[in-house]
Amino acid sequence: MQSIDLDHLVQPDRVHKSVYTDQQLFDLEMEHIFEKAWVYCGHDSQVKEVGDYFTMHIGRQPMVMVRDVDKSVKVLYNRCPHRGVELCGNQSGNTGKGFVCSYHAWSFHLNGKVKAIPLVKGYDGTRMTPDSPDCSMVAAARVESYRGFVFASLSKEGPGLVEFLGEAKVAFDDMCDRSPLGEVEAVPVCHRVVQHSNWKFFMENQLDSLHPSVTHQSTGVSARKVELRLKKEKGEAPLFFHYLSTFASSFDQWDSVQTVNFKYGHGILKAYMGLRPTDPDTVKYEALIKQAYGEEKGEEYLARSIHHVLIYPYLSVQSPLQQLRCLRPMAPNKTLSEIWHFRLKGVPEAIYERSLWYFNLVNSPATMINADDLENWTKAQLGLQSRGGEWVSFHRNYGGDTEKDGILYSNNGTSEVVMRNQFKAWDSYIRAAIQPSAKA
Ligand code: FES
Ligand SMILES: [Fe+2]
Repeated sequence: MQSIDLDHLVQPDRVHKSVYTDQQLFDLEMEHIFEKAWVYCGHDSQVKEVGDYFTMHIGRQPMVMVRDVDKSVKVLYNRCPHRGVELCGNQSGNTGKGFVCSYHAWSFHLNGKVKAIPLVKGYDGTRMTPDSPDCSMVAAARVESYRGFVFASLSKEGPGLVEFLGEAKVAFDDMCDRSPLGEVEAVPVCHRVVQHSNWKFFMENQLDSLHPSVTHQSTGVSARKVELRLKKEKGEAPLFFHYLSTFASSFDQWDSVQTVNFKYGHGILKAYMGLRPTDPDTVKYEALIKQAYGEEKGEEYLARSIHHVLIYPYLSVQSPLQQLRCLRPMAPNKTLSEIWHFRLKGVPEAIYERSLWYFNLVNSPATMINADDLENWTKAQLGLQSRGGEWVSFHRNYGGDTEKDGILYSNNGTSEVVMRNQFKAWDSYIRAAIQPSAKA
């Protein structure tokens, strides 16, 4: 293993390009960030019935989230203890009352404990008798959920889920509080995109307010033209034109939107879009919320100023529109993203359609918005793999951040404080991992 000089790689105002390209650093990230921190597995509603399961990766580990007979949600390594075969080959489904391996039919209860082994006498006198824990599936070290969103950590050590989420737990509060019942349900359609670039580009981009008016100019300007024409001809334009036209806001407008940067690299981009029109559906919906929570609380929930909440290092939540994107890194230059949207329980269909429109128009792989971002990240990866320079610059508004109670603010929405804060977290995860060997 090559020695790693973190002080050189991650500086307060710039980072070395190898943090996006190097296999050894990627392996360290997987082992010491993704396979230790709380990672999002999925939503409660994805595994409603006993035996329902959903598979995903936590770092490099294939995992399965499953509804047990006692109705609790378990997260297990998707691996047969006999010869290591993955037990669930599909993305999701129902596995009945247990798992059965497709290779030699060892079977397991939904909590992972071995149920039966064919011709079990063949193991007499060996270490693999059914009473040995070695014969059962291995569970994630910790599983917790917050408002129906299920997370697992593969490490016994570390902060609890609520402590880890910190202020960023508002992502799930904001999403659920917009339902009069306080709950959401995952829409069981998930787009999957493999981006040919490092996972960090995605995370940095979500709160990068300098890029939309450039990267998404063609879509934003076209949408604005149609939106203005419809307003002139019909008095109003559907809200979804607004989703796209705001991308063409000026640099000054973007610079006036605040970001708030939390511990562990999490952060918020405050709202930049008006999402409270006065059409009959919205008026009815807002009345429902105020009826459920009271005038004051209801208004507080409807007026929360959030566009994106980032939970570092893998989650981007657009809570006012019930969108969630989750990263599953595959290689230094390859990242899978899962793109989900949610239905607010107890609201009119027209309000759900807003989420669906945003899902399809902005976040799906079919939109120009997602395609434009993906193209930038691929080109960024190629540029960083070149010998044309060593550094990635995060100098924008450097020195202008203010800190209060460990939270970083910038008066400039386009400040690269976002990236500086994410690398502060990255540095502390990796430093904690390599320091013991550095000392030895
Ligand atoms: S590998 Fe699963 S039963 Fe043999
Ligand atoms: Fe973008």
